[in-house]
Amino acid sequence: MAQPTSIVSLMFLTILLIFSSLACFTNAKTHYHGFVVQATKVTRLCKTRNSITVNGQFPGPTLEVNNGDSLVIKVINKAKYNVTIHWHGVRQIRTAWADGPEFITQCPIRPGQSYTYKFTISGQEGTLWWHAHSSWLRATVYGAIVIHPKQGDSYPFPKPNRDSVIMLGEWWNANPIDVINEARRTGGAPNVSDAYTINGQPGDLYNCSSKDTIKVPMSSGETNLVRVINAALNQQLFFKIANHKFTVVGADASYVKPFTTSVLMLGPGQTTDVLIKGDQTPGRYYMAARAYASAQGAPFDNTTTTAILEYTTAKSNSSKPVMPTLPPFNDTNTATAFTTSFRSPGKTLVPKTVDENLFITAGLGINKCPPKAKASTCQAPNNTRFTASMNNVSFVLPSNFSLLQAHHNGIPGVFTTDFPAKPPVTFDYTGNVSRSLWQPTRGTKVYKLKYGDKVQVVLQGTSIFTAENHPIHLHGYDFYVVAEGFGNFNPKTDTSKFNLVDPPLRNTVSLPVNGWAVIRFVADNPGTWIMHCHLDVHIGWGLAMVFVVDNGVGLMESLQQPPKDLPRC
Ligand code: C2O
Repeated sequence: MAQPTSIVSLMFLTILLIFSSLACFTNAKTHYHGFVVQATKVTRLCKTRNSITVNGQFPGPTLEVNNGDSLVIKVINKAKYNVTIHWHGVRQIRTAWADGPEFITQCPIRPGQSYTYKFTISGQEGTLWWHAHSSWLRATVYGAIVIHPKQGDSYPFPKPNRDSVIMLGEWWNANPIDVINEARRTGGAPNVSDAYTINGQPGDLYNCSSKDTIKVPMSSGETNLVRVINAALNQQLFFKIANHKFTVVGADASYVKPFTTSVLMLGPGQTTDVLIKGDQTPGRYYMAARAYASAQGAPFDNTTTTAILEYTTAKSNSSKPVMPTLPPFNDTNTATAFTTSFRSPGKTLVPKTVDENLFITAGLGINKCPPKAKASTCQAPNNTRFTASMNNVSFVLPSNFSLLQAHHNGIPGVFTTDFPAKPPVTFDYTGNVSRSLWQPTRGTKVYKLKYGDKVQVVLQGTSIFTAENHPIHLHGYDFYVVAEGFGNFNPKTDTSKFNLVDPPLRNTVSLPVNGWAVIRFVADNPGTWIMHCHLDVHIGWGLAMVFVVDNGVGLMESLQQPPKDLPRC
């Protein structure tokens, strides 16, 4: 009698399994979108200029999905510039072809051409964003990606009454492409922006802007989810709402152990999900963002962008909103108190041991003026040109093939695999660095990883030319931030401070000014993945490197075949 029963129960189990997997398939949706990249007239700060937008919208459309959904986005380039779109923070497991950084995973989409990005959101919930990954186009080509819990799942906190996106941006009166091209010519630093923006609008504190200031509704007693994204090009930003506290519940599309704070600091590329409560006198409260500027003496945009948190029950909506007091521009203590508050909600899969242990310096550099070059092309201090590097290599993009094509098809001569695992010389990284160490070499150097390698990277900031905070972003992965600190990293004394229990999972780490940060990840996603400073001014100078992760065994551990419409160089 035992046998038939077990056969019946086995059959029952199989049927159950089939149904549940079917249910799985039917729940996950595929979203189809068309992104037309085009010149659009946009008026800000009393001036109208042609801006490159997606579908004529600035900021671009928000993509709203559930964890587990797939996206198919046809990008049609009707602008006069080459363009690519990067889905910032999306893991792109086996779909590196859809990641988007120009010349890393694809050749640019030329004017008049198109490319369809196909990928799946898997295991990520919260907020990410998309942006152009070509020159400085992302100044106006960006939008939010809102990832709700998997169908049928709920948030790890009470369901919020409202859900809103706050995208912090940066606006230039001039065409941003002209701004960066001018800096490339002169060798100096590019002009700073003319305004910061919230959802594309500078707000009340700028000329000709108050009629369009963004308003965010709030009802008394509500708890609302606010998804804050720093989409600025070159500036870390503090963010505050007058009289309201934040409960931080997520960052970079991973949940965190909730903590409360009155101020956020986000580097470009980072997202922070917060809950705010309608527990104040019904009225109007400014939300405001301004620079966290860590580099001493370097020029920066010192203006303040605002939006208005407006109670639906406020007696009058003409009263002057309450303004929050933002931290001083150079308030590294506040920035550090914030970045060190993050923990994962529970036990994590952080690697306890490592197979690859890299030590990578990150910072600026200075190139001597090339012989016979015009003085007008050496406008950095003392007749030089600015540059930047990781481990003394200033990264140079290829131009004939993307790194991914070169890797996948075995095309020689596009990159070399000699990116060093440690700096070529050891020096006092955050001290007074000898001028002889200021000029890096140039190259398209990658670091190879085997599938499944457990990787640790100690990121070490340098004080070459000037020390500053760098938001370091890795494509294709989320990594655990196991520690950060100031000065030079010391393996003897700092290793014991590693959080190997509940470190936060991020895609962009705030590398402290004159300090270090340690990240860990498992190289389980094959492809060519750029790690770079998310200040666009620094990417252009070469503050980047690339990991090439080999296929594992079997199909599910291997990169997919390239799409038929992959752009050619
Ligand atoms: Cu958000 Cu390589 O970028």
